[in-house]
This record gives sequence, structure tokens and C-alpha cells, in this order.
Amino acid sequence: MRVVVLPDQQAVAERGARIVASLVRSKPNCVLGLATGSTPLGVYRELIRMHAEEDLDFSLVTTFNLDEYVGLGPGHPQSYRYFMQSNFFDHVNVQPGRTHVPDGRALDFEAYCESYERRIADAGGIDLQLLGIGADGHIAFNEPGSSLGSRTRLKTLTKETVDDNARFFDNPDEVPRLAVTMGVGTILESKRCLLLAIGDHKARAIRSMVEGPVTSQITASALQLHRDVTVVVDESAASWLERREYYDEVERAQSLIESGQPRALGIQQPEE
Ligand code: GLP
Repeated sequence: MRVVVLPDQQAVAERGARIVASLVRSKPNCVLGLATGSTPLGVYRELIRMHAEEDLDFSLVTTFNLDEYVGLGPGHPQSYRYFMQSNFFDHVNVQPGRTHVPDGRALDFEAYCESYERRIADAGGIDLQLLGIGADGHIAFNEPGSSLGSRTRLKTLTKETVDDNARFFDNPDEVPRLAVTMGVGTILESKRCLLLAIGDHKARAIRSMVEGPVTSQITASALQLHRDVTVVVDESAASWLERREYYDEVERAQSLIESGQPRALGIQQPEE
């Protein structure tokens, strides 16, 4: 895992957007895995700005969202389809037919979830999966105890997640208890993952994910098994990391290499 610690929320949003934008520029028909929640909002805002001011073109991009509440239709203001439309899709030139958010009102969920997996595979797989993290260390809606090999399926939400989400609903009884979510196994098949976290309420989850054992109790920890994961966090979310200095050191070296200054690290070119 590459762990990048940045000063604040804005820096996290800009770095996240830069990573997404550079993929979209180098592979205009890429497949993006997208996430909802407050964390990726800044990334979407920044991508919308890049679309408006820097001609970032989404016309050939295909997207697949991680999850959706069961029972909420696309017009419900708390549905994840509604979130994606109002916070991102409606403001860029992505083709509506190329955006996929699981249907929380499917009649036959088993068949529906299989077809969602098939659509991801038919699109060539996900090139870059954007992720947030729940306070209990879950990714998408893969609550503690989810199989690390799980695929898209129905999942019962924990009380902690239901309580976390209650703030978005007028009446706490309206908060859905079930969700349809990509599995941990589905996420691990993405070619690259980009997980973002902001705020000290995520610090414990970030430490468990990066430095704890791989366990189904912290489903984000399964990302330790993936070969290309970038974790971008602000200072608060990084505050429980024990090997923080090492991550900063790696980041310094990585930036020197990427900006073409290997000599600053004592790396000589063969002809030198
Ligand atoms: C929900 C979503 C996750 C998201 C998490 C954290 O559980 N299913 O995808 O990462 O909330 O949300 P936030 O970014 O608002 O903290």
C-alpha cells in the first residue's frame, strides 16, 4: 500500500482527482469504480472543475458504483443513484448509459447481482476503484464479517452503519437496513484502488486497515492483498498510524523518482 498523508481535506480531494484525471487522460475509455459518502465529494467537485476548465473528457468513460440502499429508487434524495447524479454525473459529459449504480429495487436480487458482476466483466473490469472507509473499517457495504472473497450481493447493515447514516434521513425509521454491494472479492479484482479518508473519526479504521492483520472484521484490511492500492488521508485520519515516518519517507522517494530526480536518491543512470 502506498500511504500518502496530506495536510487537509482539500489536498486529499485534489490528489484524488489528479489520480482519476490522469487515468481518464491516458485511457479515455477507462472503467471507473465510484463511491458515495462525504469523503469523495471533494474529488467529484474537483473533477467537475477540471471538466469545465481543463477539458477533462468523460464521454468514453464507463462507471460502476459500489453500492445502493435496498428499497430506495433513483429519485429518492438519499439513494446513491441520486447522490451520483446530483454530485457528479449531471455536471460532466459522462454518457448516462455508461453509468451503473446497483438497483436497490431489483425483484430478484440474486440474478441482479450476478448480472452486475457480468456487466463489470463485460466492460473489461474496473481500472480504478475509488473507495471511502466506514468508521468500523468497512469498504462499500461489506460490513465486519463479510467474506473476503464475497461478490456483489445483498448485505444487512450493522447498527453502527445504520446509526451513522441516520443523520441523512428525516426519520431514523426510514434508514434502510439492507444494501446491495459489490463484494470484497469484486473490489480486489479492480486493477487499482484509491482509498480516501478524512477526519479523526477514521483514524482507528485507517490504522487497522494499513497496519493491522488481514481480517474479515475490518474488510478494508483485505486491500493489503492487492498489489496496487493508494491510500490518501489527511493528518487527522493518519493520526493513529504507527509507521507514519516511514510512509512519508517512501512518499518523498516516490515523488523524486516520479518527477525525474532519481539522482537526489543516489540513483545513478547507467551512462553517468
Ligand atoms: C457508507 C458507504 C461507503 C463509505 C462509507 C463512509 O458505508 N457505503 O462506501 O465509504 O459510508 O462514508 P463517509 O465518506 O460519508 O464517511
